[in-house]
Amino acid sequence: TTQVKKICCLGAGYVGGPTCAVIAYKCHDIDVTIVDLNEARIAAWNSDNLPIYEPGLDKIVFERRGKNLFFTTQVEQAVIEADLIFVSVNTPTKKSGLGAGFAADLAYVESATRQIANVAKSSKIVVEKSTVPCRTAESMRTILEANSNENIRFDILSNPEFLAEGTAINDLLSPDRVLIGGLQTPEGIRAQQALVEVYAHWVPTDRIITTNLWSSELSKLAANALLAQRISSINALSAICEATGADIDEVAYACGRDTRIGPKFLKASVGFGGSCFQKDILNLVYLSEQLNLPEVAAYWKQVVDLNDYQKKRFVSRIIKTLFNTITNKKIAVLGFAFKKDTGDTRESAAIALCKDFIQENAKVRIYDPKVSTEQIFMDLSTPGVDNLDALKKRVTIAKTAYEASEDADAIVIATEWDEFKELDFPKIYEKMHKPAFIFDGRLILDAENLRNIGFRVHTIGREDRDFY
Ligand code: NAD
Ligand code: UDX
Repeated sequence: TTQVKKICCLGAGYVGGPTCAVIAYKCHDIDVTIVDLNEARIAAWNSDNLPIYEPGLDKIVFERRGKNLFFTTQVEQAVIEADLIFVSVNTPTKKSGLGAGFAADLAYVESATRQIANVAKSSKIVVEKSTVPCRTAESMRTILEANSNENIRFDILSNPEFLAEGTAINDLLSPDRVLIGGLQTPEGIRAQQALVEVYAHWVPTDRIITTNLWSSELSKLAANALLAQRISSINALSAICEATGADIDEVAYACGRDTRIGPKFLKASVGFGGSCFQKDILNLVYLSEQLNLPEVAAYWKQVVDLNDYQKKRFVSRIIKTLFNTITNKKIAVLGFAFKKDTGDTRESAAIALCKDFIQENAKVRIYDPKVSTEQIFMDLSTPGVDNLDALKKRVTIAKTAYEASEDADAIVIATEWDEFKELDFPKIYEKMHKPAFIFDGRLILDAENLRNIGFRVHTIGREDRDFY
């Protein structure tokens, strides 16, 4: 089989960066070069201040950078030298044109593929790392084969990434499985084997799954759809809990103890966020429609619809509880990232909540330990909200949770950061307007304890216990 000595990765984002850093960390005999068109991002990867926050990432990057791990904007040279190339570019939901709002925008994948075809001077294994609709590899193959000759051949593999942000390094160091799809031809199988050997440096071989190309591509969309479906299922039940007095954490525990159901990914919340779930389900919905399977499309679409409903429902409950108006009330929003241990805000539920609060003319005070002020204003300025100046009159950013909650009428927990569990709540209570409300969108706080302090506490998936 071919032995991989030099790897190039196109795209130094949340996936390309950590994935290839871990490959370099585990395979000292392989040179790994990560390239990106974005100069600022590459400069950050080469600095002390990495462009993404991920526990454990710094240590690995600092240990291998300059040895067998390189970050550069010199795409051409890196492609020419590599024998295996990961395509790990972004594949956002299309904003306009055919399939707008559903289909994945494959423009970046295509231009990365063309770049490889244009500059390659020797044979390459090209690996789809980006999440793409089923059969994208076919288009990549057509582009690459139109540019191959008897001296240069391209083999295409699908190797979707299953890491979750916030736990990326652990997920990469000990993955449940690695999935590698290839054409089931002698050449395809040989290429597949070459990538298996890269992962086999640290992943037990029984965890490396090889399949045909299309199974691999579809499995990525399927896995995300199944995971998100669990959250929408538990969130749908949380609405029933609030109306009946059942407690969603107790229900999730009782159901999860059935080993056929399992305990993970059953945490009710204000709604799932992140760059993947919504995008990939919409992608699956579009694929189903393209395949003339409208019932299948409607089935998966409901997972996203329920998620939107969950966010709206939480906002309505807050407004209703605050005596049906939040105009000029101060709402402290704790957490802005889409989950803890990341600075990523893509599709964060907090964005939807804050936009609704602004629409109701509330004063919003936001604190997140890892999200920058610029990022928050960028997320809130997108359509639906006025210009930046008007926005800054309504929204302020705090440096601590204490500062955010000072003079506030209500605290809204939007992200489950551990530090929120450890806050000095008697101190916070002192400085809030009374009655002081807390809305726990992540079910992380001890409601009884807070009620003893004097707070009025409302939690997703639990009946309201304040009666006026
Ligand atoms: P990202 O936006 O953080 O990174 C993508 C990078 O690719 C950007 O920095 C962009 O500048 C760069 N790029 C675009 N075109 C390029 C080109 N032609 N050459 C070089 N660089 C180019 O995106 P991400 O979160 O890393 O996601 C990448 C892919 O991985 C997506 O398809 C996504 O669906 C998938 N994925 C993401 C996650 C996640 O948790 N974020 C997990 C699994 C899979
Ligand atoms: C997800 C998949 O988990 C990962 O395998 C895939 O590669 C990329 O997409 P990610 O979006 O980074 O990863 O984070 P994840 O932990 O899945 O959380 C997604 C969202 O669901 C977050 O907003 C999180 O708060 C929410 N969530 C998760 C819940 O509301 N309840 C849960 O029980 C789990």
